Amino acid sequence: MLFAEEVYKGRQTKVSSAWKDLLGSSDLVLVHSGVAVQKPGGLDQTYDFLPHPSYFWLSGHRRPEGVMAYSLGEGWIEYQRPLSPVDIVWEGAEGNFECQHSLEDLKKKISGGTYKRILHLGQPAQGLASDEIIRELSIRMDQVRRRKGAEEVRLIRQIADMANAGYTALKKSLRPGITERELQLHYENAVLLAGAEKMPYGSIVGSGENAAILHAVPTAKKVVAGELVLVDAGADVEDYCVDITRVFAVDGQFTSQQQEVYDLVHQAYKESVKMCRVGTQWRDVHMRSARVIAEGLKQWGLWKSSVDAVLESGAISVFYPHGVGHLVGLKVRDTGNPENTNPKRYYGSRLRVDLALEKDYLITVEPGCYFARAFIEDQAIRENYKDHINWPEAEKWKTFGGVRLEDDILITGGDAESLTDCVPK
Ligand code: GLY
Ligand code: MN
Ligand code: MN
Repeated sequence: MLFAEEVYKGRQTKVSSAWKDLLGSSDLVLVHSGVAVQKPGGLDQTYDFLPHPSYFWLSGHRRPEGVMAYSLGEGWIEYQRPLSPVDIVWEGAEGNFECQHSLEDLKKKISGGTYKRILHLGQPAQGLASDEIIRELSIRMDQVRRRKGAEEVRLIRQIADMANAGYTALKKSLRPGITERELQLHYENAVLLAGAEKMPYGSIVGSGENAAILHAVPTAKKVVAGELVLVDAGADVEDYCVDITRVFAVDGQFTSQQQEVYDLVHQAYKESVKMCRVGTQWRDVHMRSARVIAEGLKQWGLWKSSVDAVLESGAISVFYPHGVGHLVGLKVRDTGNPENTNPKRYYGSRLRVDLALEKDYLITVEPGCYFARAFIEDQAIRENYKDHINWPEAEKWKTFGGVRLEDDILITGGDAESLTDCVPK
């Protein structure tokens, strides 16, 4: 287990008190780890198993088919499918541990008649029911899970150091002629050697125009002097992760135009981080970041209408087409889904997080400014924003690429703290 036994006991206690008024004596809640998925076509292996984060967070265990059961009468009990010697011969005993209760015991408990209502959370084999009570239990567990403990913060800082080893290696290898893919390999090799288990998401490396592709998959394209390279890559240990974006000049020196865009995004970043305080609505952070970017674009002659009009119309989302950030920590999208099933748009961007910040939340701040050819050349978009965007001016920018800066920001009782500031920007 990653953390001491008491950490998991403490988490279980917090969740049970958050659920207290929702459950009766005949309710049994089952938080499922999930089932490993077989690879298709007769392959005798499964995909890498990712335990449901709620189960993993509660138990510290990563095996498929695990169940953390909770009832008012018995508290928390974990159930596992025992590994047979055959399982161990084929797959090894990694993640094996003594579990006093088997899935057979759980079946007996369920059929015993004490529990009238069985509530499945996590990743049940039959899928999540859409009951109001399931939603409420999930939301309350997420609310507990969202506040990062000191042990999680310490681990995430260590993971940031692993990512920093990757950024250092990548910068050392960056020169005209190297490919995006080679940069990815330099990054990932150093991150893995520094102790990470895997990448938390497909590493993003985009050079030149590709820097405007939000999730650019690294290609065989060679980077060219004078171009920008955008790298959005992290590191992962047992699903704890960091999510970081930095932008580099291929030849180590930004052009004056690149520097202006970089400074603008940096300004949006700094103003956003300053707003990351207890009680702030996340949408207000997004809207502030969008206003800063819109004001910069105004100076460069990209708008035909006022900054207020480009924000209200959503025209800003042509150059800043995503939200300012998302919860992060245990996986790159951490908690919040049940509370944000219908994300609303603010200034044209759909925000997956629409809640007030509280102490110990960990959230990315990642404003960006991009000149995406696919948007600039799209006739429907041009028509839609013809009163707001100076399209002949935008045309001149379509080979520029884009800039995004991203760190993982911890909300404290005072000023926010970046857990990824070991990576220079
Ligand atoms: N790494 C993808 C993102 O920034 O959310
Ligand atoms: Mn992110
Ligand atoms: Mn990212």
